[in-house]
Amino acid sequence: MVAQTIPVKTFDLVIFGGTGDLARRKILPGLFRRMCAGQMPADARIIAAARSDLDDAGFRQFARDAITEHVKDSQCDESGIERFLASLAFEHLDIFEDSGWKKLKGRLREGVVSAFYFSVGPSLFGEIARKLTKFGLTTDDSRIVVEKPFGRDKASAVALNAELKNCFDEHQIYRIDHYLGKETVQNLMAIRFGNALFEPLWNAQHVDHVQITVAESIGVDGRGAYYNKSGAMRDMVQNHLMQLLCLTAMEPPSKYGADSVRDEKLKVIKALEPVSTLNVVRGQYLGDDGEASYLDHSGDPQSRTESFVALKVNVANWRWAGTPFYLRTGKRLRGRMSEIAVVFKDPPHSIFEGEFDRRGNVLVIRLQPDEGITLRVTIKEPGPGGMRLTEVPLDMTFAEALGDKIAYLPDAYERLIMDVIRGDQTLFMRGDEVEAAWDWVDPIIAGWTESGVRPLPYDPLGSGPEDSLMLLHRDGRRWREIKP
Ligand SMILES: NC(=O)c1ccc[n+]([C@@H]2O[C@H](COP(=O)([O-])OP(=O)(O)OC[C@H]3O[C@@H](n4cnc5c(N)ncnc54)[C@H](OP(=O)(O)O)[C@@H]3O)[C@@H](O)[C@H]2O)c1
Repeated sequence: MVAQTIPVKTFDLVIFGGTGDLARRKILPGLFRRMCAGQMPADARIIAAARSDLDDAGFRQFARDAITEHVKDSQCDESGIERFLASLAFEHLDIFEDSGWKKLKGRLREGVVSAFYFSVGPSLFGEIARKLTKFGLTTDDSRIVVEKPFGRDKASAVALNAELKNCFDEHQIYRIDHYLGKETVQNLMAIRFGNALFEPLWNAQHVDHVQITVAESIGVDGRGAYYNKSGAMRDMVQNHLMQLLCLTAMEPPSKYGADSVRDEKLKVIKALEPVSTLNVVRGQYLGDDGEASYLDHSGDPQSRTESFVALKVNVANWRWAGTPFYLRTGKRLRGRMSEIAVVFKDPPHSIFEGEFDRRGNVLVIRLQPDEGITLRVTIKEPGPGGMRLTEVPLDMTFAEALGDKIAYLPDAYERLIMDVIRGDQTLFMRGDEVEAAWDWVDPIIAGWTESGVRPLPYDPLGSGPEDSLMLLHRDGRRWREIKP
């Protein structure tokens, strides 16, 4: 595993909501993998806190089940699992009650990095912060990790920031956007700023447009109640897609460090032009022939919540004026695919005769599936018959290219939790960034609410509403295909 096994200092990590879905699927398996990779100190402690009627042994069984279910590629044998389970403890605690906090405090060691992961619903974030302070569980060196969603609009994000900042300094607050922990997303920065090749071309003079797609084939079934209050704009665009846009569009930071990177991302958000209704399409999947619709899944037959959104976004600065960024995300689409595609302009003059189906040079940064990078280039078709041109991909799938240097690509949560322990905030959102993102998103949502217009229907397992195709067609462009 490349540069992943540098051990961190020992730590006490408290997971509020340690018995929840996120802890079971991501946090506990991620910590276990880090231990197997030799990064977690032997004396690190993980304490889950929740209202469940569990003791240490009961929680260890919960964690064992989580590992069995979610870690298929473990390099640890039974003794490794036992070692991990021995680092776990459980504290029975209701966040709204005063009992339990002193006992939890008694579990924490002095002089050790302490981190508190808020893996609970957002309505509990402020209360945990207050209780941690009230019962004296934290020091200046403590960190808190806050899950998404961070607010549901600017006002609630400002209020939440204020609540957290009442108790903690900004350098102690780690707001998670797990997309930032993805290997490919960090590779986007490595590609841009670690090579001399791309950066000179990374501007409106050479880039025709950028497409950012996060498509899911599953619907919202099972999460309908939550999703119905959120929608694609709040659940995906305000955080994940905007973060991808920022990393693609930002100026080179002076160094790879938390504030330098976040300062540059913030400048991009502030340079985003307001989006007119003409440049945004929202949709809702509508099934027939036995296919379920969003309305069935959401549990609200009148719901106007969007399960799809596509936008044309202009970044109003010198680098990007005239080069649109098209964003789209949706559920129940043809395939599961997340990528950033940078589409370059055609050469200014062709010296070759004849036509071929030119789609141009495209640099595709794939987040899933098969994390990797593809650059499409024009070459001569092999064989005699004159100078005939065709386009081929120069493809690099990380898992293939790095071969046995990586046993697997670490999950985003693994990296992010270790960054918290190391005290590196580069891949976490700063408070002002989150507020600025809501500033841009709020008027779009307000426009939908005011108009009362229903989202456009689209076929399950399709490409989204027709109007989203038109968003590009009318500019003489087309979306990249969502492959099944
Ligand atoms: N699940 C995901 O894939 C995912 C992805 C991204 C972000 N998130 C975010 O992560 C957070 C957790 O999500 P989740 O899916 O894990 O939720 P969940 O499955 O509903 O789990 C919630 C956890 O909070 C605990 N809890 C609830 N009320 C409590 C209270 N008053 N005092 C103490 N503990 C309490 C629950 O345990 P008890 O009932 O035993 O108290 C449980 O452990 C949410 O903010 C969510 O938006 C989740």
